[in-house]
Amino acid sequence: MAVKLAIVFGTRPEIIKLSEIMLLSKKTKGLESTIIHTGQHYDYNMSQQFMDELKLPEIDINLEVGSGTHAQTTGKAMIALEEWMLKENPGAVVAEGDTNTVLAAALAASKLRIPFAHVEAGIRSFWRGMPEEINRVLADQVADYCFAPTKTAVGNLRKEGIAAGRIHLTGNTIVEATQRGLGLAEGTAMAMQKLGLEKGGFIIATAHREENVDSRQRFSALISALAKLPLPVIYPIHPRSRRQLGEFGLMGEVERSGNITLTDPLGYFDFLQLSANSKFIITDSGGIQEECTVYKRPVLVTRDNTERPEILGSFGELVGCDEKRILSGARKILRNYDSLMRRLRRLPSPYGDGRASRRITNILVGGNG
Ligand code: UD1
Ligand code: UDP
Repeated sequence: MAVKLAIVFGTRPEIIKLSEIMLLSKKTKGLESTIIHTGQHYDYNMSQQFMDELKLPEIDINLEVGSGTHAQTTGKAMIALEEWMLKENPGAVVAEGDTNTVLAAALAASKLRIPFAHVEAGIRSFWRGMPEEINRVLADQVADYCFAPTKTAVGNLRKEGIAAGRIHLTGNTIVEATQRGLGLAEGTAMAMQKLGLEKGGFIIATAHREENVDSRQRFSALISALAKLPLPVIYPIHPRSRRQLGEFGLMGEVERSGNITLTDPLGYFDFLQLSANSKFIITDSGGIQEECTVYKRPVLVTRDNTERPEILGSFGELVGCDEKRILSGARKILRNYDSLMRRLRRLPSPYGDGRASRRITNILVGGNG
């Protein structure tokens, strides 16, 4: 009898990081899957665009929970998922990462005694001020399968008392997603051409963390820093951040800067093409901190902590959301650029070999990974 998986996701990075698992679930003997989107992200360019580009299976159910407060999105998703699980009784529920969608899936499944599989388990910023940290810790506590991307993540889970038998070291599924995305992007991505950019002649910036873009002081500091950088900055802006930019009256500063180009959120191929051809990246994104280790570009992480410590001292540096530190981090990268790039190109990704999704599906089907 086949194991029936419910693969649950709600946001852009979850689609990307579960992409290979979705594809494998449709072609692995002994696995069947229902593809469930909670609808936490709903704009075409934050959601369906990635399903189309990566040629992912059709979404079977969209729960359409939409935006709201933390309790609203988590609660609505939990209620709708529970209803579906009671009817369909899947063999396991799979979710990835640390969003409200993940917490909803973890709580709904575990209380119905349906095995919950957490992809990217055990990563920790050790800062509970971050909503994602709360989601991760709770999801791991109730997970039957903790698929940890790194040895550090395994260690974090063990320290939290999670039994060794529930933990599987798999690598991070972002590696295969990035590799596949870069391959597919070749010949299809048009962003460099459309924006008139040359390899190495620009910086990519993204920002969407609640603690950065919902704070007037931190978001203003970021924009002031971007405006003073010595290269053009391409900033594909997350809808939350666009709203906050307006709210804080920062659009004028962006326009006056002369070097910042805001774009709508980009498709995966265009975004990978730009990132892989940029001089360096400034970001508070989780996924981008991992992807840069595949296409080998330095990142300045505009946060005070990171749950991805593997990149510190090599691909990444923490600079806070602080104007002076961002600018001195940028000067440091540019001063030693050629030797830094020689070093990064030689480093393997700390996030694995591109086979994490295969290991995960093997384990879910009853094998050893
Ligand atoms: C969410 C996740 C975050 C993840 C990010 C990926 C939580 C707590 N946060 O943050 O961990 O890194 O997704 O991008 O789960 N909006 C739109 N259209 C959309 C989606 C969002 O306009 O399609 C706007 C709405 O104004 C919404 C706001 O963005 O209120 C925030 O969306 P939400 O999903 O709550 O959080 P994100 O910041 O996207
Ligand atoms: N990304 C994209 N287009 C963009 C910005 C990001 O395709 O305009 C991709 C990026 O390559 C990465 C993922 O979205 O795979 C990261 O998503 P996000 O930063 O929203 O979330 P996080 O990873 O921080 O949870």
